[in-house]
Amino acid sequence: MTGSRILSMGHYQPSRVVTNDDIAQLVETNDEWIRDRVGIVSRRIAGDETVADMAAAAADKALANSGLTATDIDLVVVATCTSIDRSPNVACRVAAKLGINAPGAFDLNTACSGFAYALGTVDHAIRAGASRNALVIGAEKLSDFTDWTDRSTCIIFADGAGAAVVTAAAEDEPVGIGPVVWGSVPERGDAVRIEGWRPYVAQEGQTVFRWATTALAPLALQACERAGVDPAELAAFVPHQANSRIIDGIAKRLNIPQAIIAKDIVESGNTSAASIPLALSKLVERREVPSGAPVLLFGFGGGLTYAGQVVRCP
Ligand SMILES: CC(C)(COP(=O)(O)OP(=O)(O)OC[C@H]1O[C@@H](n2cnc3c(N)ncnc32)[C@H](O)[C@@H]1OP(=O)(O)O)[C@@H](O)C(=O)NCCC(=O)NCCS
Repeated sequence: MTGSRILSMGHYQPSRVVTNDDIAQLVETNDEWIRDRVGIVSRRIAGDETVADMAAAAADKALANSGLTATDIDLVVVATCTSIDRSPNVACRVAAKLGINAPGAFDLNTACSGFAYALGTVDHAIRAGASRNALVIGAEKLSDFTDWTDRSTCIIFADGAGAAVVTAAAEDEPVGIGPVVWGSVPERGDAVRIEGWRPYVAQEGQTVFRWATTALAPLALQACERAGVDPAELAAFVPHQANSRIIDGIAKRLNIPQAIIAKDIVESGNTSAASIPLALSKLVERREVPSGAPVLLFGFGGGLTYAGQVVRCP
């Protein structure tokens, strides 16, 4: 039973940039309030692109960066909560677009924690011998589910995709994906919702904020402990990009002044399951984290759900 590691990353964002001033044309808000309370300056909003289009574009880049080809991939997992079609699932659509032959293909929905859940699941599949090379993708088109008249949500959510190629590690290689710490708080399911026939995102903003800034740091520390990594060794912390103040609140409690704290939210907004792979892919692309350095991923959101693990930077 070998472990697994992330071989490469890739990401895709729609070209349309929507600034806070643009949002202020739609609802009563302003640039200063959004920057101060959420930390977003601008976000990307999709046009005609579907969740599957964005997922495939990100996966195509991750594959190009991996040195593998489509024929090497035997498993495709897409974390998403915004696919409109029920079937075929997004994973099958990605496989069809990229010419991946007969992979295991499934979508996974745990909202904003989805990428970390998917990465944990794929690590387990590789350890069990059910896969050798997998694509793990987070892709969301939240703009389809946003009420553009609700200022408590439309300032936050955005679109995009990020992808990782995950491969079986050789027996003598250090573990590239640490044990996942995952869980949920189902009794607080009402705190973030996309419900019903006109499914608009709704949330109890302060409930989510309080939960995220109080409950999650100890769980993130557990992920470090289970990976045998001292938080002082972390090169980077890539949490779900929900709100800049939440990110700062968790990071402060982790006490990791040496680590780069991902703040892709500033330019990308909250892209739910896409936010962690998007942010990690950009850190890798800009070579801000050395290859092999430990990086803590931690996702949280609707359900309420959470998941995180320490990975070695590709
Ligand atoms: C949504 C969130 C930004 C709201 O910030 P907040 O500090 O809790 O704001 P409140 O709802 O208490 O509102 C504070 C004031 O700002 C106003 N306000 C709310 N939204 C506003 C906006 N977009 N622009 C300007 N003013 C706004 C409120 O009306 C209120 O005014 P009042 O004091 O005169 O009544 C914040 O709660 C949050 O980010 N929560 C986490 C949500 C999240 O991460 N969701 C995704 C989970 S994956």
